Amino acid sequence: MSLKTKIDPNKLPKHVAVIMDGNGRWAKGQGFKRVFGHKRGVDAVRQTVEAATEIGVEALTLFAFSTENWKRPKFEVDTLMSLLVSSLKKEIPTFQKNNIKVQAIGNLEKLPNNAKKQLMEVIELTKNNSNLTLTLALNYGSREEIVNATKIISKKIVNNELKIEEIDENIINSHLYTFTLPVVDFLIRTSGEKRISNFLLWQIAYAELYFTNVLWPDFNKEDFYEAILNYQSRERRFGKISEQVENSNK
Ligand code: FPP
Repeated sequence: MSLKTKIDPNKLPKHVAVIMDGNGRWAKGQGFKRVFGHKRGVDAVRQTVEAATEIGVEALTLFAFSTENWKRPKFEVDTLMSLLVSSLKKEIPTFQKNNIKVQAIGNLEKLPNNAKKQLMEVIELTKNNSNLTLTLALNYGSREEIVNATKIISKKIVNNELKIEEIDENIINSHLYTFTLPVVDFLIRTSGEKRISNFLLWQIAYAELYFTNVLWPDFNKEDFYEAILNYQSRERRFGKISEQVENSNK
């Protein structure tokens, strides 16, 4: 029986973020070149998006390409970009059928032109969809995002559009790439690494963290449900004590 049946629909994380890690190790372990791991990783993306849609998660954010990933061999970078383009193109009917809205965060200007074009097309086509919001982090780095927000806020101050005293957490939030998304409740990282790797540093302030040894290409729907069940077994206190949390749930 699927673990899905055990999930409490009233205790779902609104926003799940995933660091998809282990493609290279998976491929090496099978005697393949690294890029084959990325190819199989696309299947895991599909499984995860489907699982999140089926249980009713509002937002899913996937770390697909970091600001540091450009340092990888050119062939690997090119393969990742072409996988992105081909997958986005291929999945348009699925996005439409399942009412999935696709968006992207990161410094998108630096992406190759064909990737930018395909991305913009999918974003435009799915912009009115209202089920899951699928956000792809591409050329994304959390520190770069915070630097970018700081520059925009500073310009507004210089132009007298904002006062220093008005800067608060909401102002900073609203200048991050993720400004339309709910805060991250749950962060999953595959492959056994226990790092955040410059992903959504501000947004995960109170997120529950989940690390699994499963390598990303092997990650499937049941692994996602298992992670969600683990999330549901936790008590989220947000700085309060247990009794206060229990009382506020009554
Ligand atoms: C990490 O594995 C994975 C990535 C850097 C890229 C993830 C990309 C995909 C799953 C494919 C394309 C994505 C979409 C959204 C269609 P790694 O290479 O760092 O693995 P390693 O740590 O074992 O070397």
